[in-house]
Amino acid sequence: MIPAIEISRLSYRYPDGTEALREVSFTIAPGECVGLLGPNGSGKSTLLLHLNGILPEKPGAESAVRINGMAVTATQIEAVRRQVGLLFQDPDDQLFCATVAEDVAFGPSQLGLASDVVAARVRVAMERVGLAGYGRRTPHHLSQGEKRRACLAGVLAYEPSVLVLDEPTSGLDPRGRREFKRLLREVSATKLVATHDLELVVELCPRSIVLDGGRIVADGPTVELLGNEELMLAHGLERPHILQHRHPHAPFAWKGRPSSGAEAGSGATGSESFRRVG
Ligand SMILES: Nc1ncnc2c1ncn2[C@@H]1O[C@H](COP(=O)(O)OP(=O)(O)OP(=O)(O)O)[C@@H](O)[C@H]1O
Ligand SMILES: [Mg+2]
Repeated sequence: MIPAIEISRLSYRYPDGTEALREVSFTIAPGECVGLLGPNGSGKSTLLLHLNGILPEKPGAESAVRINGMAVTATQIEAVRRQVGLLFQDPDDQLFCATVAEDVAFGPSQLGLASDVVAARVRVAMERVGLAGYGRRTPHHLSQGEKRRACLAGVLAYEPSVLVLDEPTSGLDPRGRREFKRLLREVSATKLVATHDLELVVELCPRSIVLDGGRIVADGPTVELLGNEELMLAHGLERPHILQHRHPHAPFAWKGRPSSGAEAGSGATGSESFRRVG
């Protein structure tokens, strides 16, 4: 089966010399929903920006990233972008039209769809995110949560096969978060979700990948990774409350030493159910 997302030894350094990604490799199968976790500055957003070719600044003839088997190269970048819907971490990077309706319509109108199909997609997407009636509003006058909803509507209206979401619940009120989770469950696309909302990840993503310092430090079942307090604390995360009453004694492994001083890899057995990294 061709992976929906395939990344092979992706490294990236910003023009100012900051090394943001180091030899990152993983694959995601079609239909998977995967959480991308890690402390501030660990490289999550940088990684996501590579999935539709926003980074590197000048895509070359080769790429470490493949989407549905297509390398994200200069010649294939447009075809890749038709497959990938990217929700930016900062809504102000995404919203640029004069009205919300135009913004939501921007993606689908790039797909060569008939205007009535675009209009229908826009209407449905805006209803799904709770922004029915906001079509004529100016995006930059919306509240933060409304902006995030407008961006999400734009991505949903595009109906991508790969959905890449950077901090999708940040700024949403509790009802908005609940509705967002329901929405995400309904969408059949492959999903990669970078977030600090660990409860969201436990509820929606069977698998998680943890980045730290631009490297993958763990990749495996979410409940096992997030249920391990030492692993979480070692990488600036925490065991979410939703797992406090579970007893995940399943084996785990990670790269690097936990800050508590416990032995790295303690608890690992010969029957690891997720990838040992490094
Ligand atoms: N435009 C840029 N120029 C230089 N360095 C950058 C740039 N954008 C990000 N970085 C650096 O790259 C590293 C990774 O940043 P990135 O934004 O990918 O982290 P993140 O995991 O998404 O963090 P957060 O959880 O805060 O969103 C950090 O050290 C950051 O300071
Ligand atoms: Mg980020």
